[in-house]
Amino acid sequence: MASEKQQSILVTGGAGFIGTHTVLQLLNEGFKVSIIDNLDNSVEEAVDRVRDLAGRDGSRNLIFHVGDLRNKDDLEKVFSQTRFDAVIHFAGLKAVGESVAKPLRYYDNNLIGTLNLIEFMLNYGCKKLVFSSSATVYGQPEKIPCVEDFELKAMNPYGRTKLFLEEIARDVQKADPEWRIILLRYFNPVGAHISGQIGEDPKGIPNNLMPYIQQVAVGRLPELNIFGHDYPTKDGSAIRDYIHVMDLADGHIAALRKIFTADDIGCTAYNLGTGCGTSVFEMVAAFEKASGKKIPIKLCPRRPGDATAVYASTEKAEKELGWKARYGVEEMCRDQWNWASKNPWGYHSQP
Ligand code: NAD
Ligand code: UFG
Repeated sequence: MASEKQQSILVTGGAGFIGTHTVLQLLNEGFKVSIIDNLDNSVEEAVDRVRDLAGRDGSRNLIFHVGDLRNKDDLEKVFSQTRFDAVIHFAGLKAVGESVAKPLRYYDNNLIGTLNLIEFMLNYGCKKLVFSSSATVYGQPEKIPCVEDFELKAMNPYGRTKLFLEEIARDVQKADPEWRIILLRYFNPVGAHISGQIGEDPKGIPNNLMPYIQQVAVGRLPELNIFGHDYPTKDGSAIRDYIHVMDLADGHIAALRKIFTADDIGCTAYNLGTGCGTSVFEMVAAFEKASGKKIPIKLCPRRPGDATAVYASTEKAEKELGWKARYGVEEMCRDQWNWASKNPWGYHSQP
């Protein structure tokens, strides 16, 4: 019997932030990996760096296809070349604000792309899927920590794509019990690989807190806008569950192992978070400490649609996946700063 280590995994969106870190860990664990990515929000240089970090043996196990999940010819090329044991599906658009302005772009990309992927998985007899969901499916939770069986809500078109895709996954599995599907609900992924060679490199002005802080620290942006300082929290700023991207990557390996070994998975969701809440002010202070840089701030009104406090219940993932986040905010800021200081313009050498 082929050992688990030689299994082939298709990683959609593998050139992106979470994808690159996960692909590297998969290669380190001995998996064969094929990536399909249309480079809409990423660059090929990121994949080249993963190859370098994986070394000669690891990089031999990596195939990169530039392709779009909405294009069935692209999918045919990928699926006809390799027999996949499982798929990790990261590919998608993720900017909340953009999704409000351009809902059709989000429904087209995230929904059609995923439906095509599922169709090809079925055609080629691969019924094991790990899907990137998000804490966004909890909406503005009435209670915290967020537990997987909470009622699901969506606050914007991006969130609705995640919610719809979770429902679609549940229906697909219900109709054909051979499917094994794990929905991973990420909280707030931050940090970077310890080498500082790969990390998050958003196009344009960052929407999210940590990439914004990072760009202020390297002098690309003048100051951080703090959205809301009158929340009913310990210091007035909003609270989130930040999780190191390497912990997330390991969470995917744990999910794959579960998919390969347990036959009663059905379609089930797991939170990937630390279970700890950190405020915006605390995050700024931690980053200042890690970087030695002062982050100028401007106090601004709340950002519409933001929740006061969101953090994960980690019990289910700990119990059933045997996975627990290892890193705290200090390591997240250390590694994010290492990536930022070595790559102030991300994967580009200049503005
Ligand atoms: P990312 O933008 O860095 O990576 C996504 C990758 O998918 C990009 O490389 C992009 O080029 C590719 N892609 C998009 N549409 C595609 C298509 N139609 N065909 C092929 N490739 C396509 O984002 P990320 O932060 O790595 O997020 C990965 C997944 O995790 C996404 O589905 C996202 O919604 C989800 N997620 C992210 C966060 C976060 O804060 N980063 C939080 C929760 C969930
Ligand atoms: N914030 C600022 N200034 C900024 C950016 C953010 O003060 O420039 C604040 C926000 O108001 C919020 C906190 O920092 O209170 C975190 O904001 P992020 O945008 O980094 O993260 P969110 O929790 O709002 O949302 C992110 C993704 C969602 C995803 C969610 C959970 O954008 O898509 O994490 O995974 F659903």
